[in-house]
Amino acid sequence: MILDGIAWVDCFAFLLFLAPQLIFHVGIFRTAICGIRALPFLLLRLPYELIKERYWLSRTSRSPFVQQCTPFQDLVIRCVRYAFAKIPASIGKVFFSKWVALPFIKFRMLRHGILKSPIFWREVDQVGLRGLYIVHDVACRPDIIVYYCHGGGFSMGSSYFYLEFLMVWISLLKEAGYSNPAVFALEYTLVPEGTYPTQVQQTLVGYKYCLQIVEDSNRICVSGDSAGGTLILSLMLCLSNYSSLKKQMPGVAILISPWTMVISPKNQNTSSDYLSAESLELYGRQYLGSKATAKDSLASPGQCEDFAWWKRASPSKGWFFIYGAEEVFAPGIKDTIRLITKSGAEVSQHEEVGWIHAWPVVRLFLCNDRRERCRGLKSIVDFTRSRIGPKTAL
Ligand SMILES: *[C@@H]1O[C@H](CO)[C@@H](O)[C@H](O)[C@H]1NC(C)=O
Ligand SMILES: *[C@@H]1O[C@H](CO)[C@@H](O)[C@H](O)[C@H]1NC(C)=O
Repeated sequence: MILDGIAWVDCFAFLLFLAPQLIFHVGIFRTAICGIRALPFLLLRLPYELIKERYWLSRTSRSPFVQQCTPFQDLVIRCVRYAFAKIPASIGKVFFSKWVALPFIKFRMLRHGILKSPIFWREVDQVGLRGLYIVHDVACRPDIIVYYCHGGGFSMGSSYFYLEFLMVWISLLKEAGYSNPAVFALEYTLVPEGTYPTQVQQTLVGYKYCLQIVEDSNRICVSGDSAGGTLILSLMLCLSNYSSLKKQMPGVAILISPWTMVISPKNQNTSSDYLSAESLELYGRQYLGSKATAKDSLASPGQCEDFAWWKRASPSKGWFFIYGAEEVFAPGIKDTIRLITKSGAEVSQHEEVGWIHAWPVVRLFLCNDRRERCRGLKSIVDFTRSRIGPKTAL
């Protein structure tokens, strides 16, 4: 199931679902204060900067991202940049939560005339493990499973917010010839309610859950974006330290704009990305808490310079990194790729000029044309197919 891009009516519906949740979880007073504080940005700075950077500056002095993006994308990304830097995470949490994202995707399906999703999903809620299991045909064993950790700076985000993205992923795997693709998306504890190593432990429990679903660990593709990418990198380092699990490494690991170095001077603002280095540092410190330092390999995997460990921690069929040339994390990602490559492991990458943070995820919502919307995911599925092909093709 691949729905059309976001239309204005979707934006309106989203706000309609969001407002009562904000009032309920944040309170009418604090929500109103936040809205009033945003007015100077919305009424003055946003239109001024948009017009200046899009239309006054010569084409060559605009960032590659601004040169390529549509006015709608430009507008949304500028708002997201403001929100990430200025709006407290308690509000961001509500924005990305199940109670907004679930009615939103139901609304979008309904708008496309779909009453019942053709792709099955159910919540997993066990002691020590929460998540979303999504599968093409629930009656059969999957022939491939994507184990996904969502992003959101460790402080916001939910599997439900990624549900549409993950369903498109399943649809593309199906088109690529897999008979029954599945996804398990982990619902880990966010900061400040939980800090490191809670999230890494939960990621490990989620991986063991996936091991029970497929018959062969080579048919697991571990993946995550942003902070979810951090968790997947930590998971790989962690798995390789257990004698029982190091024989059950996943087939491939796909990192979408991973936050490889949680606190690092390498994470610097860029002119077009929506992440802000200061907010990242704040969320990063909250994640590390009192049990880890910025140099701790298991907490901030980009800091691990032990080649033998990386070699051991590598998936059986290789790594794939996909990220934007203009994103805040690009320097850290490149360093991490260099490190892992030096260890002798197999690393592929797709770096794209004109892309900003987590663009394969974001573009699904902000592009119109179906091919454009799926482009990041297509690259991911092509890589997967080249490494762990569909069983019928073996
Ligand atoms: C895992 O293995 C690495 C490298 O062999 C070692 O440096 C590290 O301390 C180990 N970590 C844990 C938590 O056992
Ligand atoms: C980084 O960008 C954010 C907005 O996204 C801004 O608030 C912050 O001041 C910038 N920091 C620096 C050092 O320029």
